[in-house]
Amino acid sequence: MGRVNLRAGQKSAGNPAETIIQGDCIAAMNALPEKSVDLVFADPPYNLQLGGELTRPDQSKVDAVDDDWDKFASFAEYDRFTHDWMKAARRVLKDTGAIWVIGSYHNIFRVGATMQDLGFWVMNDVVWRKSNPMPNFRGTRFTNAHETLIWATRDAEQKKYTFNYDAMKALNDDLQMRSDWLLPLCTGGERLKDGDGGKAHPTQKPEALLHRVLLATTNAGDTVLDPFFGTGTTGAVAKKLGRNFIGIEREARYIKVARERIRLVKTGAAEDLKVTTSKKAEPRIPFGTLVERGLLEAGDTLYDPARRHAARIRARFIVEGANGPTTREADEILNDRGVVVVPDILANAGGVAVSYLEWVQDLQNFFWNEDEVNRQLQAIMIQSFRAVWDFSQAHDVPMRLGAYMVAVDKVADALQARGIWP
Ligand SMILES: C[S@@+](CC[C@H](N)C(=O)[O-])C[C@H]1O[C@@H](n2cnc3c(N)ncnc32)[C@H](O)[C@@H]1O
Repeated sequence: MGRVNLRAGQKSAGNPAETIIQGDCIAAMNALPEKSVDLVFADPPYNLQLGGELTRPDQSKVDAVDDDWDKFASFAEYDRFTHDWMKAARRVLKDTGAIWVIGSYHNIFRVGATMQDLGFWVMNDVVWRKSNPMPNFRGTRFTNAHETLIWATRDAEQKKYTFNYDAMKALNDDLQMRSDWLLPLCTGGERLKDGDGGKAHPTQKPEALLHRVLLATTNAGDTVLDPFFGTGTTGAVAKKLGRNFIGIEREARYIKVARERIRLVKTGAAEDLKVTTSKKAEPRIPFGTLVERGLLEAGDTLYDPARRHAARIRARFIVEGANGPTTREADEILNDRGVVVVPDILANAGGVAVSYLEWVQDLQNFFWNEDEVNRQLQAIMIQSFRAVWDFSQAHDVPMRLGAYMVAVDKVADALQARGIWP
């Protein structure tokens, strides 16, 4: 068992309690009071079993996970470890508690079996589909583009557990949240760096993933435990969302990074942390209130190149409902000011999408009613928006450029897969 160094939970006025424990997670969890935690989020070693060095086609080395903490002598040893930490996690969970475990094909099936053997009750497996996965450089397998999360309650008979259905629906444009989540890998400014500019941790998870998990299955004031804390992604998001957290991590170097990261996080105001109930129950506020509260910046004026037309910015988003309404110059100004422009090629694509739906109906000689057409259209538009948004975020480009890049990608994929040319 590793050394356990328990720093008392720190709680400043109005802020959630923060506890970071250095040591082995099994010993540390066994030292915690029974039934004291609302949710466990675990990102354990994946036991990747990487043999040899992984290289790109240009022979450059891939930054793979080859750390000692991910190495186990055999599957049996990994299973024993999984059993022991999960049993310790179950002991600290309240009767209303639940667990999430994330893994890849290397370990998730073993983890799932152990989970069921210990008495947990699987609620969902969620596929985190990566919008920017690492390619399979050798071209010998499919691109490994997803990881799996298992969400389970503590017990099979458990009647009470937290699931914020409406908050999830609100996150998904008022459609029921599905079990496949398209989110980018942790890149860009979010990726923590070490002193040499390298990755501070090889498997830092994106905050967006934790945000969805915590928003779905905890409430403000709940206590979340992460036994494999790493750089403290769970802690950072928990603090932002007003949840107390306990993080356990063996390696001092990761704890140092986590502490510094979490120190900079601000907890949202209590009223903003309230979980969405149902859309209808939500109070409606005039648009002007958003400006009044400083959520939107009003008053900036944009001009066309000839300065004949002026437009006042009233929102952080501009959705182009017509073809080419924004000039190149305006695009640059808007981009500089952080205004997101949803480009015409995307926002204005509904007509073309419905033409396609008509074509499909014609081919089948079977016609849908208006509601069905609208439902299909909505799904297509949301999916396309997501694809472009995630791509733009992942590559740090405006949405217009992101849309072109996604389109070029699709053509390139089709060309590669089917040899179509031109
Ligand atoms: C997959 S990483 C977690 C990364 C984390 N989710 C993040 O976003 O930074 C697993 C972490 O568990 C830690 N670890 C491995 N075995 C452990 C153990 N027995 N007790 C505590 N921590 C352990 C490793 O040092 C590593 O940082």
